[in-house]
Amino acid sequence: MNKKPIVAGNWKMNKTPLEGREFIKVVKESTSDIQNTKVVFFPAFTGLNDVVLNSPYYLGAQNFHWENSGAYTGEVSIEMLTECGVSYVIVGHSERRQFFKESNTEINKKLKAALVNNLKPIFCIGETIDDRREGSTESFLQNQLEKGLEGINSIDSFIIAYEPIWAIGTGETADKRQIFDAHNFIQSTLKKLFPKSHNYHILYGGSVNTENAKELIKIDGVDGFLIGGASLSKKSFVKIINDVEKIRRKA
Ligand code: PGA
Repeated sequence: MNKKPIVAGNWKMNKTPLEGREFIKVVKESTSDIQNTKVVFFPAFTGLNDVVLNSPYYLGAQNFHWENSGAYTGEVSIEMLTECGVSYVIVGHSERRQFFKESNTEINKKLKAALVNNLKPIFCIGETIDDRREGSTESFLQNQLEKGLEGINSIDSFIIAYEPIWAIGTGETADKRQIFDAHNFIQSTLKKLFPKSHNYHILYGGSVNTENAKELIKIDGVDGFLIGGASLSKKSFVKIINDVEKIRRKA
């Protein structure tokens, strides 16, 4: 199946609402030829209001609470997000796991809540450098997949992002073989867990930039990117989107 690649920009805790709206306007103008690539912007919560996007551009939220409403000071519900036009959410990003101690159980609740509410989750998994050195990358990924997806019947419309922790924000990208092997392993694990689901994407994330994106998008099994640092610059983000579009159109 020829999947439309996804280029997602996770701005993390960067850009004010005004800066975000201006950024999105310029990116849209500079990528107006794209037909085959989906682009998702992930501003902070404050940047989600007053942004109207149409296909192939989509709005995503970096986080949310799995409950619909209630006494959860500081949290944001899915209903609040969908009213802003959000259709994608990031779940299980390594920074949330590491700095905010999000557990596999919480991640599983979020994935289930996203599914019930028809939001497309970008479910992030990835090993630490120690796991890789010890040769336990595959068992680590398998455990994250099994725990995160427990009790879920179908992953159609899901997006998995393979993000080795040691490659996030470090400038050190995984090499082509490592990415190919990890995506291949994720795919075969998902086939076993969800034999009836076929309609999902597997993205790569971790120091994707204008230099390496062209090569990385050619790797078999890479259906797009989740990008942090390089998604903050208009020039870089536009170049990556246009390169992905060009290469995938030829393929
Ligand atoms: P990076 O971040 O592109 O800056 O490495 C990726 C991510 O956090 O998703």
